[in-house]
Amino acid sequence: MFDLEIEVNGKQEQVSVEADTTLLYLLRDKLGLTGSKDGCRSGDCGACVVLLDGKTVNACMVLAPQANGASVMTVEGLAKDGELHPLQRCFSESWAFQCGFCTGGMLMSCYALLKSNSNPTRDEIRAAIAGNFCRCTGYQALVTAVEQAAAELRANNV
Ligand code: FES
Ligand code: FES
Repeated sequence: MFDLEIEVNGKQEQVSVEADTTLLYLLRDKLGLTGSKDGCRSGDCGACVVLLDGKTVNACMVLAPQANGASVMTVEGLAKDGELHPLQRCFSESWAFQCGFCTGGMLMSCYALLKSNSNPTRDEIRAAIAGNFCRCTGYQALVTAVEQAAAELRANNV
């Protein structure tokens, strides 16, 4: 077993895992954070995207021991004090999802984009979610939702 310390959504966690445990398994099954979805386990679908020390990763492709001492942000970390993050609200208002399976990963890829680019073009938004597959909504509403959230965040200087 491997004892690791990891900060998840601002909370320090101490967990023991098998050495071959993935970060996705750790988040979902050890910590109960099921917003990151288990879609393909091969780095192809993006349903498990989280931020690891501020960078997007597919959590299914990272071994939990590799995240020892790191800081992780999952989709559960987006809302603050019961208030949805503007990205979440704009996704909802723009009908940017249907089943929601891809949404956690989508939101984290878009969140990372807006952290580095507050006014992305539609093409830049498409590039940011190139590794996130949605099988039921289509992408137009999603790109519009990100544009709207970006505008709101700029207006509020966030
Ligand atoms: S479950 Fe990780 S990329 Fe699909
Ligand atoms: S909303 Fe269903 S896969 Fe994207």
